[in-house]
Amino acid sequence: MVADTGIYVRAADDPVGFWAEQAGALDWFRPWETVLEWDLPFARWFDGGTLNASVNCLDRHVAAGRGDRVAFHFEGEPGDTRTVTYADLLTEVSRFANVLLGLGVRREDRVALYLPMIPELPVAMLACARIGAVHAVVFSGFSPGALRERIEDAGARVVVTADGGWHGGEAVALKANVDQALAGGPPVDAVVVVRRVGRALPVVMVAGRDHWWDELLRGDDPMVGGPPSEVCEPERMGSEDLLFLLHTSGTTDRPKGIMHTTGGYLTQVAFTHRAVFDLRPDTDVYWCAADIGWITGHSYAVYGPLANGATSVLYEGVADHPARDRWWSVVERYGVTILYCAPTAIRTFMAWGDHFPAGHDLSSLRVLGSVGEPINPEAWLWYAGVIGGGRCPVVDTWWQTETGAILVSPLPGVTTTKPGSVTFALPGIGAEVVDDHGRPVDVGNGYLTLTRPWPAMLRGIYGQPEHYRQTYWDRLEGRYFTGDGARVDEEGYLWLLGRVDDVMNVAGHRISGIEIESSLADHPSVAEAAVVGVSDPTSGQAVVAFVTLRSGSGPPTEALGVELQDHVSGQIGAIARPRTVIFTDELPTTRSGTIMRRVLRAVAEGRPLGDTTTLSDPSVVEEIRVRARAAAREP
Ligand code: WTA
Repeated sequence: MVADTGIYVRAADDPVGFWAEQAGALDWFRPWETVLEWDLPFARWFDGGTLNASVNCLDRHVAAGRGDRVAFHFEGEPGDTRTVTYADLLTEVSRFANVLLGLGVRREDRVALYLPMIPELPVAMLACARIGAVHAVVFSGFSPGALRERIEDAGARVVVTADGGWHGGEAVALKANVDQALAGGPPVDAVVVVRRVGRALPVVMVAGRDHWWDELLRGDDPMVGGPPSEVCEPERMGSEDLLFLLHTSGTTDRPKGIMHTTGGYLTQVAFTHRAVFDLRPDTDVYWCAADIGWITGHSYAVYGPLANGATSVLYEGVADHPARDRWWSVVERYGVTILYCAPTAIRTFMAWGDHFPAGHDLSSLRVLGSVGEPINPEAWLWYAGVIGGGRCPVVDTWWQTETGAILVSPLPGVTTTKPGSVTFALPGIGAEVVDDHGRPVDVGNGYLTLTRPWPAMLRGIYGQPEHYRQTYWDRLEGRYFTGDGARVDEEGYLWLLGRVDDVMNVAGHRISGIEIESSLADHPSVAEAAVVGVSDPTSGQAVVAFVTLRSGSGPPTEALGVELQDHVSGQIGAIARPRTVIFTDELPTTRSGTIMRRVLRAVAEGRPLGDTTTLSDPSVVEEIRVRARAAAREP
């Protein structure tokens, strides 16, 4: 059970007052007038207050005499390193903010960032925040088509990218992807290109549109008259002004631009980063291994740690380059004290063998975090024992792109943990498991819902105001619907059971099954496709596609299967590539024509089918079962 410590009690007595206290830890230009205005489903937090996120992440630490503290120990995949102090970061952010102003970017304008995990990514994010522009980061593993869709949806005026990034020993083209994304597509004023991989990749610069980052900063680019000033006056942003958009996958074929605003978001990411990791900013070396292209990287590799003046590691590449002990060499080299990563990484390291971590001194580690997908007890125990040496608390943190910050997690040293359970809602958060009718479940399974507004909650879906209420608030009256199934045990502990909708979670990456289906349906040979996420011992879930071919498009060959896999990678990105393509003459549907994905998932996992009385033609399933077994036997 939870130790009955003050923080839970205080927050439960007065959640709104609790959040006001947390907001007081930030620097405000002008204090707020109201803490919370709540007109379900619309919340305004700290309204009337003004602040700037970059000032809270940088200026105030430098002003307090901590300019020499390291903000980022950067390590590139090839082994190059850079040490960036808070003073350095403030200068870089101010200079780039002035460059953006020089390119015509103004308050409320959107800027798309398509960058590898290099210091220029947080610099560009904070530079946007400084001038009140809205960043829309696009994960650098997304393909040109997915990038175009996000640039268009955000209406971005400027794109910041790099020539490429290092991934598994190879230079991965990014600028070329931007060129493809913009070809005949969204009109942007400027593309800024960081030189990362240099001669490893050819880059074509479009005159009048494209600029090199380093030339702009040296003042060598004709667009800017000389080097930009190292001082940039921060915009005074309203608490409810947009800080960023981040696209995520839902249950439609279009990604949703989740809107996050300034005051509430920063309040809650800073609080949770301190509380959940028991942060000691003077001595900790913190490493969030998530890519900044996802929400975890936004909240816990950039805004949370910087708002708290923490020292972080930023690592560019993959875990097995040049060898499978890369992470542990990073932990040892920088003396990492707090590690935050996804269960897929943990399970992968388990499979690689204990001798990789055993070859390194990991005694600096103090707290271990897990995020992004359910963690199985076996992986939890391995993480605690082999990586944490039995002395580090494990914090399994549940949250979403939409929630902005961690909502459910133990507090180290306070909450008694159980391997595989996310334990309890954090102070100030109302979480409840309910049944189909919205009735609370005391013990048993149901849907995880949120009963109260929280400061970092999404404020809407960019450009689709009507979908906000429908998607999150209409399903169970008066509650936020998370889309996750959960179990409450006899002692009130929460156990996450995975998504209950068509969202998949592959290696901790959130992917829409419907988006992959619509990509497959774009292929000339495909008549219809159904995509399901099936359980996978390492990546949590894996993508399996069931495809029926158009008549006349030839036989279902292995080569066509590979072609379809490549087609999806090309349209969306490698993370969406189906692990298996199963061809079938028909898909199981209800009499009203809805594809029964539940049945397909059971078939793919070799489980009993459950209730199939609503199937229009049960014999279809038999055929698919045979094909699925054959596919499973393939190497
Ligand atoms: C899943 C990632 C179990 C969940 C921060 C959620 C988790 C989705 C956990 C959001 C966890 C995240 N245990 N499942 N600790 N954390 N999830 O938006 O299904 O990329 O709905 O945010 O990941 O994914 P997203």
